[in-house]
Amino acid sequence: MRAVFWDYEKNETKMIDQRLLPESFEIVSFQHYADVGKAITDMVIRGAPAIGGAAGFGMALAAMESDARDLASLRTYIQLASDKLRVARPTAVNLAWALDRMLAVADTVEGSADDLREAMLKEAQAIADEDVEINKRMAEYGAALIEDGDTIIHHCNTGSLATVDWGTALGVIHTAHEQGKNIHVLVDETRPRLQGSRLTAWELEQYGIPYDIISDNMAGHFLHTGQVQRVVFGSDRTAANGDVVNKIGTYMLALAAKDNDIPAYAVVPTSTVDLSLAYGGLIPIEERGQEEVLSLELLGRKASPENATARNIAFDVTPHRLVTAIVTENGVVYPPFTENLKKVVGL
Ligand code: MRU
Repeated sequence: MRAVFWDYEKNETKMIDQRLLPESFEIVSFQHYADVGKAITDMVIRGAPAIGGAAGFGMALAAMESDARDLASLRTYIQLASDKLRVARPTAVNLAWALDRMLAVADTVEGSADDLREAMLKEAQAIADEDVEINKRMAEYGAALIEDGDTIIHHCNTGSLATVDWGTALGVIHTAHEQGKNIHVLVDETRPRLQGSRLTAWELEQYGIPYDIISDNMAGHFLHTGQVQRVVFGSDRTAANGDVVNKIGTYMLALAAKDNDIPAYAVVPTSTVDLSLAYGGLIPIEERGQEEVLSLELLGRKASPENATARNIAFDVTPHRLVTAIVTENGVVYPPFTENLKKVVGL
């Protein structure tokens, strides 16, 4: 099941509502691009490549929603839609990457407005299909780094839900499992939105991969006591020098991995690499509402005082010196990243 897809009978975009998992599995439908933008902001859909896939279908919806009869007016509408979708979330570069791909089609297609509408849907579908193919290719490269018997710490959710299908870091774990490798996953619960315990654990159950959920602050202990052989995570944007921006907590995890000589692999499709930014500090980091931190309850009781305030930083920068290798769909990239990353992007 894809996290986001086009319903060709109803001509609408559909997504798994990830806010409801694991309690309930529901598919939601979208007829308007603005609602797709809101779904990205509200995290109905999340994960960098899934956001890119949703943005592509959102642009196809925009083209269909517009009643423009000529190419020029339709292009104007499409441009407006892309401006609005672009600000749905700031960190994952796949959003801008997919919108730019869709705009390039809007700029080049000749013929009628309906020809352009058709071309927009075709491109959105291509983005989605390519994502699955890319993830599977990347997973093969990544799985070669996993050994039979490994215990692996995984951060956030990077699986089928975070992509169009299959996944980045979790895709590597899934492929290693399918290859018959006996692996165990320690699932960082990933405060505050719990993408690990809600989504990754749910996915691992579907695949029959053994796991234990750990609170994020337990990772150091497991690494320090020799109970972990690999650390894997994805990325929302990776800078030209290999600095990896990913879900908050990745930095501390990578630091603890480095201190204990455990390899830490970032699994990153080239659509997530932003060569225009020299280092991670230039990547915009999202800060979300404090209610996501403060709404926590422990055994049915509030976990903070009535008037508590909180900060909710959604991503952090893991400096490239803490990253053992970056796994892409075009091969595994080792340091020096500034030199080697650009060799695999745009192939
Ligand atoms: O805030 P989210 O849930 O969208 O963050 C997702 C992540 O940080 C993932 O690790 C990332 O997108 C890379 S893997 C698809």
